[in-house]
Amino acid sequence: MWWTTRILLCCFVGLFPYDVAAQVVVLTKSSVYPNPDTLLEGESVFYDVQLSAAPSSTAKITFLVTNTTRIIASPAEVDFTGADWDVPWRVELAAPEDGVVEPSVGTETNPVEVWYQEGGNAATLAASLDIVVQDNDYDQYLRHGAISWTRDVTFGRSVAVFHISMSYHTSLRPDVTSGDVISVPATLNFNDGSQWTNTLDVTVVEVSSEGYILTSAEVTHDFGSSSAASWEVSLSQCCRSNALHNNGGTT
Ligand SMILES: *[C@@H]1O[C@H](CO)[C@@H](O)[C@H](O)[C@H]1NC(C)=O
Repeated sequence: MWWTTRILLCCFVGLFPYDVAAQVVVLTKSSVYPNPDTLLEGESVFYDVQLSAAPSSTAKITFLVTNTTRIIASPAEVDFTGADWDVPWRVELAAPEDGVVEPSVGTETNPVEVWYQEGGNAATLAASLDIVVQDNDYDQYLRHGAISWTRDVTFGRSVAVFHISMSYHTSLRPDVTSGDVISVPATLNFNDGSQWTNTLDVTVVEVSSEGYILTSAEVTHDFGSSSAASWEVSLSQCCRSNALHNNGGTT
């Protein structure tokens, strides 16, 4: 989504009203893909930065990162003059891979302050960006997932085939290529009360250039002779606090 932060900086550069210059630091979240609201380690978010009016002397905009282990700003500083104040610079805020399994569930917020300084004046805080970073190093890390089903009624029995598609960040298995079969932990809970806990063999369908491993798997479950049963399964042990659930359905 496009959004713009405009912060009015009133830069009094002299004692007289006609000396007053007012620049606005214009930050626009760029449309570069991927450009998510929550960064996974290994991902970046991009901002285009420019001024709304010419500065009276060289203006410096600094991206000050609170925790440089988690976020790297590049370039961390951009300068504007009266000649290029309206030509945007693209600043990348990247969350580096760390290869560390973080114990906490969920996300953490990393502040990035945007400071404006013109000539010899004191720097002024122009904006505060909160960059949310999420660990991608736990084994069960799942980026997207879905389960659907088709039925396969064998004589006198109700057999459901569940089609499971899941995508992982490439840091989970950096070396896989399409056609490989990888094992991921999975617990399947069927609504006839049975549970299946094991590793699930999933086939790599594609390794996308955006850094995702797309996989698919099929699980067949025999619901027995009770043909009235609805067919439902949930897959846990995959997604931290969430579970995948199929769309249900009845025979
Ligand atoms: C920066 O982030 C790392 C990794 O999450 C953490 O271990 C460290 O304590 C953080 N440093 C500060 C100053 O917050």
